[in-house]
Amino acid sequence: MFNKLILAWLIVVLAIGGSLLAYAAAKGDPAKGKEKYTQICASCHGQGGKGDGPAAAALDPKPRNLSDPKYVSTLSDEQIFKTVKEGGAAVGKSPLMPAWGSVLSDSDIWNVIAYLRQDICKCQYKGK
Ligand code: HEC
Repeated sequence: MFNKLILAWLIVVLAIGGSLLAYAAAKGDPAKGKEKYTQICASCHGQGGKGDGPAAAALDPKPRNLSDPKYVSTLSDEQIFKTVKEGGAAVGKSPLMPAWGSVLSDSDIWNVIAYLRQDICKCQYKGK
């Protein structure tokens, strides 16, 4: 009886702990995301996300204005994740948006998304 109680308690603790960890991982860390964004994304999208990075002049179509909350709130986190990991072509956008899956780990990408949401567009996904 006693052992079963302890076992049940352990399962509850592990389940709560596990979902908290999953939540933290999915949320990402905006400070770490900022580092990657500055290193990789800003050259095209601009440090403020306006699509005016130094490499943008040569691009057509231009990099998206990631600081536009109206537009970015139509993109779900999963959609942005796929765009960043697999590149623009994978989501029907321009292949000039490169795939970063070989450069950034999944958690790097979630960190960048957290940074985008918190500091660049200052917006959350609102649905289409
Ligand atoms: C070489 C230039 C370049 C770099 C570097 C770059 N992008 Fe892009 N990105 C683009 C271009 C060009 C588009 C526009 C594609 C289109 O509109 O068809 C784009 C589009 C996007 C979009 C919008 C997709 C949509 O659904 O409209 C997101 C989000 C995005 N980039 C995120 C990032 C992130 C995050 C990084 C850094 C990891 C990054 N980009 C690095 C060029 C770049």
